[in-house]
Amino acid sequence: MPLLKTERLSVRFGGLAALSDVDFELGRNEVRAIIGPNGAGKSTFFNCLTGVLRPTRGRIIFDGEDITGLPSNAISQKGIARSYQITNILPNVSALENVRIAAQSRRHGWNMIAHHAGLRDINEKAEAALKSVGLLAKGHELASNLSHGEQRNLEIGIALATEPKLLCLDEPTAGMSQAETEDTKELIRGIAENLTILIVEHDMQIVMELADRITVLHYGAILAEGTPAEIQQNPRVLEVYLKT
Ligand SMILES: Nc1ncnc2c1ncn2[C@@H]1O[C@H](COP(=O)(O)OP(=O)(O)O)[C@@H](O)[C@H]1O
Ligand SMILES: [Mg+2]
Repeated sequence: MPLLKTERLSVRFGGLAALSDVDFELGRNEVRAIIGPNGAGKSTFFNCLTGVLRPTRGRIIFDGEDITGLPSNAISQKGIARSYQITNILPNVSALENVRIAAQSRRHGWNMIAHHAGLRDINEKAEAALKSVGLLAKGHELASNLSHGEQRNLEIGIALATEPKLLCLDEPTAGMSQAETEDTKELIRGIAENLTILIVEHDMQIVMELADRITVLHYGAILAEGTPAEIQQNPRVLEVYLKT
């Protein structure tokens, strides 16, 4: 059974078909890259998966369960986390507090004893999440004092703190320097060892190095799917990328 499956997933914005009948399957422990020109529907696809947007038609099956149209907090509880293309952190609290709040958001029920026992658990989870994005030493810095690259990595840490089964990364290296991009690539490689990852990324070197398989979106539909080697040689893909 795939971890994630979409059936005829479609989104319309007025007259515009942002996604059209997308049939997609993602295996457990896979790293899948989604690529495609600007406006291809990549973020819209993520918005549907994470409950930010309700699809106009179609179904989303996650871990065997129909999650179509669930609100984003319910989807987070089911185990899909996402880092946004636009920085989405709380600037006026520490890096550690940012991930701690995220770790807590996955908990429910306020039983006193469970809460007391859970507190240590949450602190440990928050520290583990910070560590996996290389920010443990900066846990007590205000998030706003981190560099742009560190803030983007913190966002990944916030997503990880919810202990997802699927991590969706929307252009994690956007706006980063070469050195920061390289660091983030290695960090994602480490995270990918025990997690299923869907990544939208423009940096083809990162895509080719990290992805097990690639899905190419074009005008809201799947143009091609395959291994990095297959995609690099696919004439339809080459045509789209040479045109843009
Ligand atoms: N909330 C929205 N309202 C109207 N049109 C939208 C909205 N979000 C995205 N679109 C349009 O849908 C298409 C797909 O956008 P998007 O998913 O952001 O593409 P990508 O992430 O691949 O660049 C684009 O034509 C975009 O302008
Ligand atoms: Mg986008």
